[in-house]
Amino acid sequence: MIRILGIETSCDETAASVVVDGREILSNIVASQIDLHARYGGIFPEVASRAHIETIFPVIQDAMSTAHLGWDDLDAIAVTRGPGLAGSLLVGVNTAKGLALGRALPLLGINHLEAHIYAAWLSETDFTLEFPMLALIVSGGHTELVLMTDHGSYQYLGGTIDDAAGEAFDKVGRLLGLPYPGGPSIEEAAQRGDPAAYRFPRAWLDAPHQHDFSFSGLKTAVIRQVQRLEKETDTLPVPDLAASFQAAVVEVLATKTARAAAAFGVTSTILAGGVSANLALRKAVTSAVNGPVHTPPIALCTDNAAMVAACGYWRLQSGQRDGWDMDVAPGLPLA
Ligand code: KG4
Ligand code: ZN
Repeated sequence: MIRILGIETSCDETAASVVVDGREILSNIVASQIDLHARYGGIFPEVASRAHIETIFPVIQDAMSTAHLGWDDLDAIAVTRGPGLAGSLLVGVNTAKGLALGRALPLLGINHLEAHIYAAWLSETDFTLEFPMLALIVSGGHTELVLMTDHGSYQYLGGTIDDAAGEAFDKVGRLLGLPYPGGPSIEEAAQRGDPAAYRFPRAWLDAPHQHDFSFSGLKTAVIRQVQRLEKETDTLPVPDLAASFQAAVVEVLATKTARAAAAFGVTSTILAGGVSANLALRKAVTSAVNGPVHTPPIALCTDNAAMVAACGYWRLQSGQRDGWDMDVAPGLPLA
């Protein structure tokens, strides 16, 4: 039995978790900074790193005591080293180094995007890994289609050429006057709206960019529509705008994922990252893709440390051991 403490501070969540054998969650503590950043309408990096410094130790202590474990019970410490905000990543990496050094535990630097993928198998009972798999990673900073040919082996198929999917949700949410973060706010408003109320553009992009994405044209179309409506009416039809925007994002993501899954003959598909919490997206991808689709439990879609510990398990199995020179990598790619 391998018990790993995971630590995550790449963005605006301070998180720690203990996971057994990459599957069973003993504790999963997430301290969100959403309230701190909401007044800025987005993440304020300096505020984020300071909040991580204040919260990281209580969060780790909470994760250890909730798991009913002592330090001698751990087998390794896994920490997100990138991609993410440099100052925020530093807090997690330096804390992990201190703990690993003090307790003579192996240290594992983890790629945040890879961790999102492993969230799909946390707590899943009937799970066997079969490669090749396709992963759609949709978060606040990334929109990537990746072919996973083995643990730790990734081939980049395509990604966004402008805004990330989550970023588009956040920007349109702000435009519609919805609370930050925009993703969950738009999903909630969309439930009361008509997805066919406005026909917003879908960017399909031709070969050789058929696996890439673009959301800036969609964002501009929503801005123009809002400007037109503001001339005609005092109250914006927010639910219709939210539903029509969400429908455009979801259709492109689901269709391109299904096309890539067919083109590369994958055995299964994984949906990961904060935007994968979106029920309309989960439904659309599951029905568009021919073959099994794995989605993380909703609570594990957005940033958490259980996924970091789960990923750490497979990295440890593959022989990864990082030295004290392991550093943060704000632009770390997956493939
Ligand atoms: O993975 P994540 O927690 O952090 C990053 O690594 O970026 O993703 C956060 C992003 C935000 O842009 C947020 O608006 C979006 O995920 N998000 C959603 C939903 N929940 C979170 N987008 C659409 N629908 C949701 N339910
Ligand atoms: Zn993330």
